[in-house]
Amino acid sequence: MTTTDLPPSLLATLPGTYYTDPAIFALEQSKIFEADWFCAVRSADLAGPGAFETVQVGKESVLVSRGRDGKLTAFLNVCRHRGARLCTEDSGTVKRAFQCPYHAWTYGLDGKLIAAPNLTGMPDVDRTAFGLTKVHLREWLGYAWVCLADEPPPFDGTVVAAVTERLGGESAIEAYGVDGLALGKRIEYDVKANWKQIIENFMECYHCATIHPELTEVLPEFADGYAAQYYVGHGAEFGGDVQGFTIDGSEGVDRLPGVTEDQDRKYYAVTIRPQVFVNLVPDHVILHRMFPLAPDRTLVRCDWLYLPGVVESGKDLTRSIELFHRVNQQDFEACERCQLAMDSRSYANGGVLVPSEHHIGEFHDWVRTRLGL
Ligand code: FES
Ligand code: FE
Repeated sequence: MTTTDLPPSLLATLPGTYYTDPAIFALEQSKIFEADWFCAVRSADLAGPGAFETVQVGKESVLVSRGRDGKLTAFLNVCRHRGARLCTEDSGTVKRAFQCPYHAWTYGLDGKLIAAPNLTGMPDVDRTAFGLTKVHLREWLGYAWVCLADEPPPFDGTVVAAVTERLGGESAIEAYGVDGLALGKRIEYDVKANWKQIIENFMECYHCATIHPELTEVLPEFADGYAAQYYVGHGAEFGGDVQGFTIDGSEGVDRLPGVTEDQDRKYYAVTIRPQVFVNLVPDHVILHRMFPLAPDRTLVRCDWLYLPGVVESGKDLTRSIELFHRVNQQDFEACERCQLAMDSRSYANGGVLVPSEHHIGEFHDWVRTRLGL
């Protein structure tokens, strides 16, 4: 059966090669991840001047650091002398400068070249011109978003718009005060699957009844297979006897003060393409960042965010964290199971989307358009 023979209930997915072909992955790196805003670092993780983190954005290693003025700056993690990777650690703190381990060119926290062996003997070298290459950076929701494009797309028209279009209004996300929350827990998942598998899975709930028994207990409407993201402004309602968004439906922690009556006892999910998921519940926020590392490998960093007072109090958050941790494990296992088949001749023309998954077709169209395929 070719895709043109499909009955109206079914739409074709992308072919299997989109999930395995290194050439397609390279195209995604340059046309998507190096072109769009990319949620790189949680701002509060870089606590003081000199704190830094390195992240993989497309093919580039990007260094994000906090300057002496308290502001975050992003640079390409490449020494301007002969190109050595400047920082090889994932994170750390330098006193006042980054020094290249090869010939000791030294850069200030503002990226300017401040010292190099024999530099005084080269008075014609402009220290700013040979500083680290800057990368665009914006802070929003308590995270530093970077963009490698020379002319970044408008932040409001892309990142912010993804959230407001899904939630049906500009103030909806503000109610959660995400940038003022504290990190209760971070779990990293090394997922052996293409990043698109993870997005597609997050966009649909056709699988919820099969693989998420605990989640469907808390959100009974998920058992019907329609994801909360399917309707603009729709939040999935907690079950009648559910007290909180926890593994057993028991009571959660202090509600976020800005959450409205309308948002209470509901779960909202937002996808910010290409690599962020935001999950909103009355007492916490769960934010996923994806770092695509290879066609069949994606690192997912998942943050559970609560009111600072809740985290400081040492309250037991395990039942709260366990619910989405289990959902993550169930989802990523499913993604890995699909990834195994992407090279199969049975999947050469791809699979199909049922009506409750049809909106994933729009994601596939977006990918194709962005790649020019
Ligand atoms: Fe960095 Fe030479 S490559 S100092
Ligand atoms: Fe799921």
